[in-house]
Amino acid sequence: MPYFFETKRLILRTMQAEDVEDITLIWGDAQVMKYSGGSSTKEQVSRSIESYQRLYEEKGYSTYTVLLKENSRIIGVCGFNPSNNENEIELIYHFNPNYWGKGYATEAASACVKDVKDRKPAIKKIKAAVDPNNPSSSKVLSKIGMTAKGTKWFDDTQQEELYYELE
Ligand SMILES: CC(C)(COP(=O)(O)OP(=O)(O)OC[C@H]1O[C@@H](n2cnc3c(N)ncnc32)[C@H](O)[C@@H]1OP(=O)(O)O)[C@@H](O)C(=O)NCCC(=O)NCCS
Repeated sequence: MPYFFETKRLILRTMQAEDVEDITLIWGDAQVMKYSGGSSTKEQVSRSIESYQRLYEEKGYSTYTVLLKENSRIIGVCGFNPSNNENEIELIYHFNPNYWGKGYATEAASACVKDVKDRKPAIKKIKAAVDPNNPSSSKVLSKIGMTAKGTKWFDDTQQEELYYELE
C-alpha cells in the first residue's frame, strides 16, 4: 500500500514502478532538467523510482509522485533527498511543463514540508539550492517560507547556486 497525502488539488504518493513513463516525461525532459544536472533515460528513471521507494522505507520520507486529484494524471515529482547530515534533507521538485504556472509546485512543496515536519520531528533543517537563472523556483521557495541564505558552490551542478533553508 503506497503512502500518500493530499492537498486541495493534489495527491502525493510514494513512487510506483508503473509511474516510469510519466516520470520520464519529466526527468527525461532536457528543458525541465536544465537547472538540475540534465535529463535521465527511462532506465535511469526506473532506478531512481526504486531508490526513492527504498528511501521511504528506510527513512520515512522521499520524493513523491504528484497527481492531479481531478483526473489522476501524474504532473510532477516533489519531496526530499537525504544529505550527509541525518537531520537535514533537501527539497526538490520537477513538474511537467504542461502544468507550470498554476501554483502546483508551491502547493506540493508546502505539503511535503508540513508532512515531514509532522511525522519526522528529528529532521531539523530543510535545505534547497536554486540556479540563479531559475527565478520561478526561487519564487516557490520564498512562497513556502524558506529563507535565502546566500550562494554556495555545488559539485553536482559545478556552479554557485542560491541556497535556501527552513529551520
Ligand atoms: C520550478 C517549477 C517547479 C515551478 O513550478 P510551477 O508549478 O510553475 O510553480 P508555481 O506555479 O507554484 O509558482 C511559480 C511562480 O513563479 C512564477 N514564474 C513562472 N515562470 C517565471 C519566470 N520565468 N520568471 C519569474 N517568475 C516566474 C509564477 O508566476 C509563480 O509565481 P506567482 O505565484 O507569484 O505567480 C517548474 O517550473 C519546473 O518544474 N521547473 C523545472 C524543474 C526545476 O527547475 N525545479 C527546481 C530545481 S530543484
